[in-house]
Amino acid sequence: MFKEQWKRRIKLVEADLLKELRRTKSLDENLKQAMEYSLMAGGKRLRPCLLMAAADAICGDGEKFIKVASAIEMIHTYSLIHDDLPAMDNDDWRRGKLTNHKVFGEATAILAGDALLTLAFEVIIRQQHVSHEILLAVLEEISTAAGAAGMVGGQSIDLRSEGSQIDLPTLKLMYLGKTGALFRAAIRSGAILAEASAKKLNELTRYADAFGLAFQITDDILDVTGNDEILGKPTGSDEKNAKATFVSLTSIDEAKHHAQMAVDEAIDALRFFGSEADFLRELVQYLIEREK
Ligand code: IPE
Ligand code: IPE
Ligand code: MG
Ligand code: MG
Ligand code: MG
Repeated sequence: MFKEQWKRRIKLVEADLLKELRRTKSLDENLKQAMEYSLMAGGKRLRPCLLMAAADAICGDGEKFIKVASAIEMIHTYSLIHDDLPAMDNDDWRRGKLTNHKVFGEATAILAGDALLTLAFEVIIRQQHVSHEILLAVLEEISTAAGAAGMVGGQSIDLRSEGSQIDLPTLKLMYLGKTGALFRAAIRSGAILAEASAKKLNELTRYADAFGLAFQITDDILDVTGNDEILGKPTGSDEKNAKATFVSLTSIDEAKHHAQMAVDEAIDALRFFGSEADFLRELVQYLIEREK
C-alpha cells in the first residue's frame, strides 16, 4: 500500500518535472540536455513525496501542491550535480548513470545546477490553489533552507571537515544543514500549503528533523556497506575523501543505533496524527532498512 502510493507519486512528480523542462526556453540546447539528464535520471523522489505526504496529513489532498513538490526536487538535483563535482566529492556515478560533469563537462554541470536552482523558484510561482501570503511563506521556507543557513551551509561544513575529526554536535549540525534542511523545507512547505495549525506544523517539523538525521546516518552506513549497483552511486566515497561521518566517528553498530533512535523520535512526533500520517510513518521506518 505504502510502496504503491510512493510509486504512483513518483510517476506524478516525474511527469510534472518533464512538463516543466519541456516548457523551459533555454538559450542553449546543450544546457537544457544537461538539466534533463540529471533531473530525469530516476532517484527516490523523497522530498516531493514528503511534501505531498505532509499536506495529506493535514488536508488529505497533497497532490494539488505538485508545483512546489517538483521545485524541491529540482533544488535537490542541483545539489547532487554540484556535490559530485571534482571540487567537491569527485564522484563518477549518480542515480545509476555517469555524473553530469562526466558527460557534459564541469562548466556545463555547474551551469545545469544553477539553472535547476533558479527554475525551481519559477515553478513555485506557478503553484495554484494557494494565497499569495502562503506562497510567500513557502518561498521563505525553501529559499532559507537551500542556502547558507541550510543545505549550502551544511555542504560547506562537510567540505571543510574533510581529513579532520569533528565532534558529534558539529556532525549533527552539518547533517541538519546538508541533508536535513531540504527535508525540513519539503515537509514544512507541505504543511504550510495545507494550512496546518502551529501545533501540527511543530510536530511535523520534529518529524522532519528526525527523518533527516535517520536518512543521513543511513546514507553514511550505505557508503560503507552498500552495493554500488543497487545504490546507483559509488560506495567508499566518504573514505576516499576522508569525510567526517557518523561511521567514521563511531561504528556501524552505533550508527545504526542512532538511526533507530531517530526513527523512533520521528514516529513519536506523529502521535497526535491518525491514519492520515501512515505514509510518513511507513516511510521513515523503511528508511533504515533501505538498500538505496
Ligand atoms: C542523496 O539523496 C544525497 C543526500 C542528501 C545524502 P537521495 O538518496 O535522496 O538521492 P536520490 O534523489 O534518491 O537520488
Ligand atoms: C550530500 O551528502 C548532500 C547533498 C547533496 C546536499 P553526500 O555527499 O553524503 O551525498 P551522496 O552520498 O554523494 O549522495
Ligand atoms: Mg557530499
Ligand atoms: Mg557526495
Ligand atoms: Mg553520502
